[in-house]
Amino acid sequence: MADIILGIESSCDDTSAAVIRDGWLLSNVIASQEVHRQYGGVVPELASRAHELNIVPVVSEAISKAGVTPGDITAIAFTRGPGLLGSLLVGTSFAKALSLSLDIPMVMVNHLQGHILAGFVKQEGKENRQPSFPYLCLLVSGGNSQIVRVDDPLHFEILGQTIDDAVGEAFDKCSKMMGLGYPGGPIVDALAAKGDPSRFSFAKPQIPGLDYSFSGIKTSLLYFVRDRMAEDPSFMENNKEDICASFQRTLIDVLMSKLVKAAKMTGIKEVAIGGGVAANSELRERVAAEGRKRGWNTYIPERRFTTDNAAMIAIAGYYHYLAGERCPLDIAPVARIADF
Ligand code: KG4
Repeated sequence: MADIILGIESSCDDTSAAVIRDGWLLSNVIASQEVHRQYGGVVPELASRAHELNIVPVVSEAISKAGVTPGDITAIAFTRGPGLLGSLLVGTSFAKALSLSLDIPMVMVNHLQGHILAGFVKQEGKENRQPSFPYLCLLVSGGNSQIVRVDDPLHFEILGQTIDDAVGEAFDKCSKMMGLGYPGGPIVDALAAKGDPSRFSFAKPQIPGLDYSFSGIKTSLLYFVRDRMAEDPSFMENNKEDICASFQRTLIDVLMSKLVKAAKMTGIKEVAIGGGVAANSELRERVAAEGRKRGWNTYIPERRFTTDNAAMIAIAGYYHYLAGERCPLDIAPVARIADF
């Protein structure tokens, strides 16, 4: 009999539900919360409220688009954390209620593991290339930046990570500071495509090993913009493409140099990327180019599977389900990875 998994993701500002059958995608519905745009960042209380509004219609739509009925679902996979606690509570409580009413088990998923396994969702009519184990995953999002060695779907080790801001956070905070809008990543990405990345230079951190730091680059950009604006108030408006291109180049250079180092240190040539920043055009091109140069097999997920989505939670949950894991009803979500 087929295993039909309903995935539920509510860790930040996207309410998402997806259905997969034996690892094949049947539906993936995402309601992105527009309410945060006017504040230039996610407002946790508003995010929880929007999840509460969205969760029933999003799950219903995912089930009906999948062409299944609630009675067909084998298990519910939900994001337990890390993320915003109020947001996670909505998905967790909803998963419990559904599990009770349908009398089916739940499996809990680590959000980061979802990002790491996003590329394992199989789709009808697609090539469905998947990395072989062990592989390296550059996991870059709004809350995390890590290089992870993935030994099998359920076991991975973090080889390096940011010691301060996540790279997505650097995109978002700098975009906000430059008055460009939120979320910063896609805005900077689009402007950077029209600019000259070699025009300006920003301080690059020198962190040993595979860890990295992004707060210095952020501060360097902040002072740079402030000083230039003091001389010429229209500086930002007239140079935003070049500023974004140079800033983005600096961030991507840091990520690439650590990724190359990790591949050399481990001897692993299977390289994947995941997380919201994996939607970045320059990062996608650079990883592919580096792979051609160094003989890596590279795995770059479709953009819709890089930012938060429930398909990745469903596939991670599927592997947990197959391993026999079940989650008790007295489970509570966790905000931090360390508490998982
Ligand atoms: O994975 P995600 O949706 O949420 C977290 O789990 O954090 O990632 C969101 C992050 C935001 O910081 C957003 O600015 C960034 O991903 N992002 C991008 C791009 N698209 C989204 N960063 C750079 N370039 C992009 N095209």
